[in-house]
Amino acid sequence: PKDVGILAIDIYFPPSCVQQEALEAHDGASKGKYTIGLGQDCMAFCTEVEDVISMSLTVVTSLLKKYQIDPKQIGRLEVGSETVIDKSKSIKTWIMQIFEVHLFGKLVEYGNTDVEGVDSTNACYGGTAALFNCVNWVESSSWDGRYGLVVCTDSAVYAEGPARPTGGAAAIAMLIGPNAPFAFESKYRGTHMSHVYDFYKPNLASEYPVVDGKLSQTCYLMALDACYNLYCSKFEKFEGKQFSISDSDYFVFHSPYNKLVQKSFARLYFNDFLRNTSAVEKDAKEKLEPFSNLIGDESYQSRDLEKVSQQVAKTLYDAKVQPSTLLPKQLGNMYTASLYAAFASVIHNKHKTLVGQRIVMFSYGSGLTSTMFSFKLQEGQHPFSLPNIASILNVSEKLERRHVVPPEKFVETLKLMEHRYGAKDFETSRDTSLLTPGTFYLMKVDSMYRRHYARK
Ligand code: ACO
Repeated sequence: PKDVGILAIDIYFPPSCVQQEALEAHDGASKGKYTIGLGQDCMAFCTEVEDVISMSLTVVTSLLKKYQIDPKQIGRLEVGSETVIDKSKSIKTWIMQIFEVHLFGKLVEYGNTDVEGVDSTNACYGGTAALFNCVNWVESSSWDGRYGLVVCTDSAVYAEGPARPTGGAAAIAMLIGPNAPFAFESKYRGTHMSHVYDFYKPNLASEYPVVDGKLSQTCYLMALDACYNLYCSKFEKFEGKQFSISDSDYFVFHSPYNKLVQKSFARLYFNDFLRNTSAVEKDAKEKLEPFSNLIGDESYQSRDLEKVSQQVAKTLYDAKVQPSTLLPKQLGNMYTASLYAAFASVIHNKHKTLVGQRIVMFSYGSGLTSTMFSFKLQEGQHPFSLPNIASILNVSEKLERRHVVPPEKFVETLKLMEHRYGAKDFETSRDTSLLTPGTFYLMKVDSMYRRHYARK
């Protein structure tokens, strides 16, 4: 198969959100800390009727329906998530309900249970692992000609404190196959994996992670440097010429919060300066020269370097990164879905001009796992054409439909969810007033911890 990649993409996020400006005031943080300091506008969150399973059921149903894909055409389904609802039963098995159609307790003939794949977990990287598994499958000798389907679903919630404003929630579904408008440039992958304790979830009784915020920022940037250098050297090996940020039209980053994305692009720019590429102009070179001798850790700690590199990279940031920031700024960190929501933002903003262009992606999952990879863009055949994908994503309308909740209500919901996490024998309010028709929601968890969902 040729040009294997992403054929179609859909996103679902909960209708409830809290404004960062209001949260800032509520938390007693200094004015501007969340909005300018972290660069965030708004944060989506699941109320008690939604979770990572309901969101993934909703987004998969939506994608199959809007692209008129018969569930029988799916041969592999991979889920990326770091939200633990069950230590054994995968989220993938939940989604199988859409494929195996039961009628009066019997499996009817047109059901499809011949679907490979399970869940992948490592912080925010699981979605990328799932995506690679599907792409590799389509490119392999075990491919049976059907589509792959990738689901990234997470609800990111933090304990009270400085990390709380960096939560978020969403689910993404991506259809994988040949002749894709977003074709993988598989030869140029750069991966960096290492053992660190920057963000982890050792407390199985709690949904909240243990996080060393400062360390996680440095790990992220170090991983970015490592992946970028590998990506560049692989590109150079195959293309016989140097890679620089001029060679890609967009850079899409895993986005815990926007400030880190700004710093990341500045970091790529600094790398291009150190590698002496033509992307860095003369006056920028002069401004960065004083930092050229910073070695190792020093360069991650230098506030001056951070400031200067962000300033000289600003014009390129606006052109190559800003179009990817819409959904991450509006929804917050969606963990595994975060990178792909940023990717969806580029499609939303730029679908008219993408043909022939390149998008470089950086995936990061604490612990840590990271990869830089890229897509080459093509027209795509109906229904997988760029304008159709953008119109099905329907980003503006989905954002406008949201309901802004006061911080008190958000905090109250999180408190309730702390009690509900890992609990059994409870019913939810079944309040679906904010949900659009077709959305799945949680009704109850029974005495055997079995979860029961319904569809509005
Ligand atoms: N106006 C404008 N800017 C402000 C203000 C203000 N009133 N107050 C603070 N700031 C700036 C700070 O200068 C800082 O920006 P800088 O880094 O450019 O200097 C920024 O706001 C954040 O302030 P800090 O004091 O650094 O924030 P704090 O340490 O309290 O928390 C953190 C930030 C560490 C990101 C925390 O939210 C966290 O731990 N989040 C979860 C971890 C995370 O997301 N890590 C990213 C990679 S791993 C992953 O994806 C989970």
